[in-house]
Amino acid sequence: MGGLNTPLQSSSAIEYLDDSEVRYPRYFNTLNHQVVAEKMNALECAEAGLVASSGMAAISAILFGLLGNGDHIVLTEGLYGGTHALIVNELKRFGIDYSFSAANAASLEAAVKPATRMVYLESPSNPLMTVVDLAAVSGFAKPRNIITVIDNTFASPILQNPLQLGFDLVMHSGTKYLGGHSDLICGTVNGSVELVKKARDHLVNYGGCLNAQDCHLLERSLKTLEIRVTRQSNNAEIIAHRLDQDDRIGRVHYPGLENHPGHAIAARQMAGFGGMLSFELADNIDPETYLRRLQLVNCAISLGGVETTICQPIATSHQKVSEQERQRLGITGSLLRLSVGIEDVDDIAADLLQALA
Ligand SMILES: Cc1ncc(COP(=O)(O)O)c(C=O)c1O
Repeated sequence: MGGLNTPLQSSSAIEYLDDSEVRYPRYFNTLNHQVVAEKMNALECAEAGLVASSGMAAISAILFGLLGNGDHIVLTEGLYGGTHALIVNELKRFGIDYSFSAANAASLEAAVKPATRMVYLESPSNPLMTVVDLAAVSGFAKPRNIITVIDNTFASPILQNPLQLGFDLVMHSGTKYLGGHSDLICGTVNGSVELVKKARDHLVNYGGCLNAQDCHLLERSLKTLEIRVTRQSNNAEIIAHRLDQDDRIGRVHYPGLENHPGHAIAARQMAGFGGMLSFELADNIDPETYLRRLQLVNCAISLGGVETTICQPIATSHQKVSEQERQRLGITGSLLRLSVGIEDVDDIAADLLQALA
């Protein structure tokens, strides 16, 4: 009694006679699910929330719980590779039509058709850090009853609250900043009671619940989310400027740099520019040699953990996107994606620069 942490309730069989509802882990209504979902509601200023078994489960719950045969969805180009693969491999099998548009509000609006039921985007996006004006998107979508959905993984709820800017649903790969210690995989959905119920009902049928232990770990991680993200964002801003000043590095993609096309929008709608950035190596530097020379920075897939990690998107997050599509989007072999951790910023920067030598 009196412990500061929610007790871990690992039972899959729960007594029901004296309870107001039948509880079962796959129904997302056990103690550990509810506590962590409520914390996410508070963080995303939402009425309701759902904690799922992965970011992809959360995205699937939204797409298949809210869209059906004959509906159309508009998505921004340059989404996370797994999301892109889900769209192109699965949607048409269920009679859902889709269009990709350039990642800005005007192009999204121009791509809307009479059957469009949803607009889906990432901002900042993975891996090119494209920023979309969220208030402008919700502004054209709302009067047309189009549901607006954002993958808010890169910003985290600390730096961006899309529901406050008129969006209907916000999802996270909780595997990243929410978990923050590279030791769990989960996803979250937040929004109105009505929309979250539709996503949940779908996922109850398909199965995609998070186990109690990972709910418990996620709840522990949320306690330090603000401290971690603030430090990561401050570190990333310093590193982006240092990389930008080095001639051996091509373009640096970071919304906090004044030369970033989305800088003014990001400054308006985010409380910080985030812990993610990407940069291009000069042509004479072989990416794999560079990655192998790093000593502090870990060459690993995933992101958002307390340790700094780096990866080559064409070999990891975007390996499922066709070569032709990657070239068109500017996701080249020399592009590296950096997830800045909480280490001493001078140590991180020194490692990134020594490996260029
Ligand atoms: C932006 C973004 N959205 C969604 C996902 C999918 O999340 P998960 O791997 O937790 O299913 C990822 C994974 O890397 C991601 O980077």
